[in-house]
Amino acid sequence: MIFELTEEQRMIRDAARDFAQQELKPGVIERDEKQQFPTEQIKKLGELGFLGMMVDPKYNGAGLDTVSYVLVMEELSKIDASASVVVSVNNSLVCYGLEAYGTEEQKEKYLKPLAAGIQIGAFCLSETEAGSDATSQRTTAEDKGDYYLINGTKNWITNGSTASTYLVIAQTDARKKHHGINALIVEKGMAGFTIGPNENKLGIRGSDTHSLLFDDVRVPKTNRIGEDGFGFKFAMKTLEGGRIGIAAQALGIAAGAYELARDYAKERQTFGKPIANHQAIQFKLADMATQIEAARLLCLKAAWLKDHGQPYTQAAAMAKLYASEVAMRTTVEAVQIHGGYGYVKEYHVERLMRDAKITQIYEGTSEIQRMVIARELLHD
Ligand code: CAA
Repeated sequence: MIFELTEEQRMIRDAARDFAQQELKPGVIERDEKQQFPTEQIKKLGELGFLGMMVDPKYNGAGLDTVSYVLVMEELSKIDASASVVVSVNNSLVCYGLEAYGTEEQKEKYLKPLAAGIQIGAFCLSETEAGSDATSQRTTAEDKGDYYLINGTKNWITNGSTASTYLVIAQTDARKKHHGINALIVEKGMAGFTIGPNENKLGIRGSDTHSLLFDDVRVPKTNRIGEDGFGFKFAMKTLEGGRIGIAAQALGIAAGAYELARDYAKERQTFGKPIANHQAIQFKLADMATQIEAARLLCLKAAWLKDHGQPYTQAAAMAKLYASEVAMRTTVEAVQIHGGYGYVKEYHVERLMRDAKITQIYEGTSEIQRMVIARELLHD
């Protein structure tokens, strides 16, 4: 077993680390406070190839592996999880979905600008009553011969207003349950498609999260991904890779909070010595670092399995379950180590603590990850 990164993987990680320090860190507190989308930063991430990392260069992607993607997600998320969720959704839900299951025409038209970072995409599955229970889609895509007519509402959609391309999951034939669901490519500006207001969120406040309203939206049949009825499987397959991205985001949030707490503990003095010299703080740091390392190994293992064409459903769910719980625990401890300073915005850890929570919720709650893991453990 080789635990070493390649030269290329190290270079990519270092480039992401530099980008996070130089481009994301300035203004991250203000963007969080004002709920401001990191427009310029996302544009630059696109130019660096970070929005289509795993896409084949023939479709404008960077042609990198999933391990590199995990490394980049960790580094960006240490500093700005609002920016990293945009990277994650674009890479693993939208670009992956189109590259793996789209037609050549769909790849030419939609994947190329997304992978080049000229446009960004959104993945539209969740509804008020179909978050965890994803088969219960109320949004309909009525088959009208050479087009589908979409009606309904999607909720909590990341990149809701900034995306140009939306992958929308909708029910075509309710009698067939999940076999009657389709995935359709919807363009911003299609008649009847409107975007609701930005959600006022606890964390990842720089990302834009919206409800999307579909009122008799006509989508050509050529915009369907896969065969009729493939939509639910499409969503499940795509979310598997998405979970690696969010696991890596959670890992980065945890690692970012840990690094801040460690550095602070070496500087801050109480009772005549740095607090890092008190065993109570040492034990906290030791636990944080150990859990972060375990989360990192789970993320890298899931990525490695995907890169080697091996099943990764269980590994991705385990990585997301564990890393998101570590993110929550670690950020709470990082605030505690900072004491009163941790509770104010300038020290960054309170933001990381708020950002951590979403990693236990989106792309499947912790309870959903446990369901997926148990199903994999128990099936014959
Ligand atoms: N790969 C391929 N097929 C899969 C699959 C997978 N990973 N998981 C399930 N399926 C298939 C099953 O084989 C089955 O197909 P057949 O009937 O043909 O055999 C079908 O899907 C239904 O499977 P289940 O009976 O297991 O489905 P279920 O209703 O019990 O639900 C679930 C399974 C895992 C709970 C699923 O509903 C789920 O993952 N829910 C959570 C959805 C989610 O992650 N939502 C997040 C929204 S996206 C987001 O958050 C993006 C963002 O903004 C950041």
